[in-house]
Amino acid sequence: MEKRKIILDCDPGHDDAIAIMLAAKSPLIDLLGVTVVAGNQTLDKTVMNTLNVCQHLGIDVPIYKGCGQPMIRDKQIIAPEIHGESGLDGPLFAPLTRRVEPKHAVLYLAETLLQSDGDITVVTTGPMTNLAMAIRLYPEILPKIKEIVLMGGTYQLGNMTPAAEFNIFADADAAHVAFTCGRKITMVGLDVSRKALCLPSVMERMSKIGTSASKLFIEIMTFFNTTQKQVFGWDGGPLHDPITIAFLIDPTVLTVKEMFTQIDIRGEQSYGRTNCDFFHNSGQKPNSFVATDINVAKFWDIIEAGLRAYSP
Ligand code: RIB
Ligand code: CA
Repeated sequence: MEKRKIILDCDPGHDDAIAIMLAAKSPLIDLLGVTVVAGNQTLDKTVMNTLNVCQHLGIDVPIYKGCGQPMIRDKQIIAPEIHGESGLDGPLFAPLTRRVEPKHAVLYLAETLLQSDGDITVVTTGPMTNLAMAIRLYPEILPKIKEIVLMGGTYQLGNMTPAAEFNIFADADAAHVAFTCGRKITMVGLDVSRKALCLPSVMERMSKIGTSASKLFIEIMTFFNTTQKQVFGWDGGPLHDPITIAFLIDPTVLTVKEMFTQIDIRGEQSYGRTNCDFFHNSGQKPNSFVATDINVAKFWDIIEAGLRAYSP
């Protein structure tokens, strides 16, 4: 089976780090590059976290620094209450020698897509600023985007406000650009990630693997599970971001439904909401595929296989 070429745009972030791990060693994924955006923490910290994870696990993929604030809104919101002051609290890393590439992430995205055969999937697991900026600066890349798969949004309850999920709320304008760009877009929202809870039984299962990646998984998820319990009361942290990669590895892990999705970029209470027309009563033509269910057992099997792909 041919490898799926992807660029992963992320804001590590505990769950982003697991998404990087899963993508980097999957025999079904060709991870061309990792682009970093501000989100869970400020850009300098999300970049540092990306470099640390890749250096620690020997992931030899180019890393690019992107946008440090939303396209239009004045400031970048961050989530220290979930990810800590560093954005990846928990694990300790050796002194960092890895460096980012000199090119800006937006330029890397545009140039790579433009030079491609139109076979690259862009996966975003943070605010969609880098991708949206690339689309606005270089609209000629649009036909070259095979598909966009994002972690973000919800057609149910938000996690930043009752209406909005963090990645969308952090840069709703960027999400608007992505959902209106005309390319195939699949939304992996809280609706399914809240079913993929890293429960004690999952931690027990992954702790027995004994690879460098499984050890890092336990260190990362121990912190993430604690803050998710404190803030939301979950018995295990919802493993949001890796679901995008699991979906590309095995699309049957998700059930998706075509819907018209519109981003609220003007609201007050509902700013940043992904208004998904679940029952098609808007009369609008569907513009997105929205995940409505997840095969949780299959998801954890994919995670376990991903962690086993690394050396002890
Ligand atoms: O709402 C969850 C999403 O926001 C995840 O991608 C998490 O890493 C944060 O970016
Ligand atoms: Ca993220």
